[in-house]
Amino acid sequence: MITDSYGRIINYLRLAVTDRCNLRCTYCMPEAGLDWRSRKELMTYEEMLRICSLLVKMGIEKIRITGGEPFVRKDVLPFLQNLSLMNGLQELTLTTNGLLTAPLVPELKRMGIKSVNLSLDTLDKNRFIRIARRDGLDKVLKTLDALLADDIAVKINTVVMEHCNITDIVPLIQLTKTAPVSVRFIEEMPFNGGTHPVSPAWSYLRILEHIREHFPGIQKITDAPHSTSFNYHIPGHKGNIGIIAAYTRSFCGSCNRLRVTPTGVLRTCLYDAGTFNLKEIIRGGCTDEELETMITNAVLKKPTDGWEAENRLAAQKSAQQSMATIGG
Ligand code: GTP
Ligand code: 5AD
Ligand code: SF4
Repeated sequence: MITDSYGRIINYLRLAVTDRCNLRCTYCMPEAGLDWRSRKELMTYEEMLRICSLLVKMGIEKIRITGGEPFVRKDVLPFLQNLSLMNGLQELTLTTNGLLTAPLVPELKRMGIKSVNLSLDTLDKNRFIRIARRDGLDKVLKTLDALLADDIAVKINTVVMEHCNITDIVPLIQLTKTAPVSVRFIEEMPFNGGTHPVSPAWSYLRILEHIREHFPGIQKITDAPHSTSFNYHIPGHKGNIGIIAAYTRSFCGSCNRLRVTPTGVLRTCLYDAGTFNLKEIIRGGCTDEELETMITNAVLKKPTDGWEAENRLAAQKSAQQSMATIGG
């Protein structure tokens, strides 16, 4: 079991396999993209498997593959296949923008992947192009249909942006009427990569108020342990609604996560600058025992509350360029 010095049990790894993406969402990165890492700066799949295997032996039970967009990296499917066979790993899941995903869904199903988080900020074709700076809504909707058809649980992630996709909130909620999806509205977080000013106007409470105006019967439901979202249900609907207070609330008290960036940096906190580079240590020829000691020591220094209200803006701005480089 991996435990930090505050007694938090760390059993969830978010592994970003690439910083690249085939979209350019305005809240995430500039039109020109990010300063992409070169191939040799990235961890190889063999290195990632070694790290995952060690972390699973140490106590990680759930791995979420993220990006950028995971499926823009070549051969990610055989890597997922290998991970899905890893002894001791209880849950393998991923976060995707859905552009390349639809044809891969049967393969994901065969591997035993039971849930996928899908980014989708609007159901309007033109607004999709405005937000993502690329076309692709049809493909994302095909992915959604394919996942639902294969009984893979879907959480839709919608970043709420003032003067942009507020009119999408109700139509997105309507999806929950007939489909067992969880539609989660996320407060926008400020990152250096984002290319428009973040308005704090759409806080968790404002989003909830807006939903309640349209669906007065909305009911609070129990949140799973470690849930990032506060969850609700509209009577008669098949799916649920969630709100992720990514900006106004700290998740730190119940944090159970480790993150590994595409270049191999181990992050024990969304807001830290990284602890050490696993890839460099591996390429230096270390043993698993040495690696385990380094990871254990890094986790012991995991901050109690990296979010710290008064520091959060500064911390986010200085530490991160984009969600795409840290994997969310
Ligand atoms: P599951 O609970 O496994 O479904 O994962 P998740 O909801 O964390 O995963 P996802 O990749 O779908 O991320 C959704 C959103 O949660 C991200 O856009 C972030 O806004 C937010 N988020 C994830 N982790 C953290 C965190 O540690 N702190 C904060 N503030 N926000 C987070
Ligand atoms: N604020 C909030 N959520 C963000 N994401 C990316 N950038 C931001 C941001 N600035 C979300 C995406 C994706 C998840 C992993 O992170 O919508 O679903
Ligand atoms: Fe790509 Fe996700 Fe960033 Fe959009 S938010 S540009 S889909 S990594």
